Amino acid sequence: MEPMFLRFSKTRLNLRKMTTKVNSENIKAIGNILVDESRPLKERFRALFTLKNIGGVEAIACIKDGFKDPSALLKHELAYCLGQMQDSNANPVLIEVLKDINQEPMVRHEAGEALGAIGDESVIPLLEEYSRDPVIEVAETCQLALERIRWLKSGNSTENLSQNPYASVDPAPPHVNDNVENLKKILLDENQSLFQRYRAMFSLRNLNTEQSVLTLAEGLKAKSALFRHEIAFVLGQLQKEITIPYLRASLEDPTENEMVRHECAEALGSIAHPDCQQILNDYLIDDKRVVRESCIIALDMCEYENSTEFQYADALSKIPVC
Ligand SMILES: [Fe+2]
Ligand SMILES: [Fe+2]
Ligand SMILES: [Fe+2]
Repeated sequence: MEPMFLRFSKTRLNLRKMTTKVNSENIKAIGNILVDESRPLKERFRALFTLKNIGGVEAIACIKDGFKDPSALLKHELAYCLGQMQDSNANPVLIEVLKDINQEPMVRHEAGEALGAIGDESVIPLLEEYSRDPVIEVAETCQLALERIRWLKSGNSTENLSQNPYASVDPAPPHVNDNVENLKKILLDENQSLFQRYRAMFSLRNLNTEQSVLTLAEGLKAKSALFRHEIAFVLGQLQKEITIPYLRASLEDPTENEMVRHECAEALGSIAHPDCQQILNDYLIDDKRVVRESCIIALDMCEYENSTEFQYADALSKIPVC
């Protein structure tokens, strides 16, 4: 049995906020690691999560510089982190990325989602425009982000909603319903809105029972690739070995959308069972760059989960102290 701090140590958690102030030189030094293409990708990811935890305008400026990188995986994670920081100073950066059709769909999607996570009402017209984007992942993301902002704006109470134990800013609140059978019907109903189905997804995650987790895994067969990738993300948060066969099947399916395969690889990395390591090693040579790189990051997550390291976002300890 692992100690609790390791179970809750997922890289994407917001739990490790910086408690001490970090000076500008150190922030720049970490930013230099982030944009240095000659450095191992896993090290650059850890630098990114360190900047996310430091927060503030200087960290945002360093993250912004990363959007020139050729790695879609890295850039989508930059957008993800900007959203999780929930600082509206990142809005101009995210708007630029969402509008830039030269950025990969996965990167633009994450920028749209991040705007929803920050939740400023000022981005409503932009999200309305991009909710009709020809790239379906981008359109669906902007529809969800819009619904989240409208939901926040309407002053809905979170009082009776289940708690998110992962400290992530989710694209939708949990559902008011907490009966697994009812939630399953909503989750798998292709006629329901994505927002309602996402709400069911987060409720099932928060319930965290064997039945709710296996219900979530069924969502990997949904029609929307965006929905399937979020299911995989949530299974990564849950870190349950019973979901390995489902995640494996999607990762191994060459016809599956690469954004979904990427998220399945990272979920396997966070489950960190020896079987996951073996599967991930096989896909380090996948045809799709984003899948290969996800396996590199996932194997680093496996290593971290199985180590006694306290902090994944460890770039501060790797730079010369200024
Ligand atoms: Fe996301
Ligand atoms: Fe995503
Ligand atoms: Fe992702």
